[in-house]
Amino acid sequence: MSIKVSASILSADPMYMGQAVKNVESAGVDFIHVDVMDGHFVPNLTMGPFIAKGVKDITNVPLDIHLMIDNPEIFIKPFAEVASKGDIITFHIEASKEPERVITTIKDYGLLAGVALNPSTPVDAIKGVVESVDLILVMTVNPGFSGQKFIKDAMPKLNSLSKIIGDHQLLSVDGGVTVETAPMAIENGANMIAAASAIFKPEDTNLAIKDLRDAANNKLICS
Ligand code: DX5
Ligand code: ZN
Repeated sequence: MSIKVSASILSADPMYMGQAVKNVESAGVDFIHVDVMDGHFVPNLTMGPFIAKGVKDITNVPLDIHLMIDNPEIFIKPFAEVASKGDIITFHIEASKEPERVITTIKDYGLLAGVALNPSTPVDAIKGVVESVDLILVMTVNPGFSGQKFIKDAMPKLNSLSKIIGDHQLLSVDGGVTVETAPMAIENGANMIAAASAIFKPEDTNLAIKDLRDAANNKLICS
């Protein structure tokens, strides 16, 4: 299986979001990563269902919705209503009191369910739900902002998760993923990468995605 690439629009120019979505679509990304922040779970505010719908309306690329919000149970419905089959909704294990219920709700809408872990959260925190999710998201920065440095200390956790997941499950890394750090994540078992700065900061988005994909897939072949 080749590595999936998810483009986080958090680093796109907000005044030209539509163009950014079209650019990553034509570059062939596998997912568009929508970073949702509530100012409580993380110290930043970003996009809500309104933006997710706007993105959805102009592209067929599946959405990879990353909820960095408290009480995710409240917000599954509005996001699920703009999503469709093949889209992912991921919530943070640290933010939910009822992770099983959140996963069931996401799946009841016909969507893929993901669970995310902050860099300091151990694998044990998701042990009760690891088999019922479609995606596990290992954060390689403390969530809140794009442009932070990749936390290598998350690699042993990624590695142990890669040994317990099934063939059908996605294991994604998010935060500080670049052509330099992506190979390390792949080596430790990731089969998906999410990136914002590495895709939207370079002049040529198309080339940036190609470089990222090549760096990840070459490592996959070599290891
Ligand atoms: C961080 C977000 C990430 C972020 C990644 O809280 O969840 O998805 O956009 O940005 P980069 O790739 O710049 O680290
Ligand atoms: Zn994210």
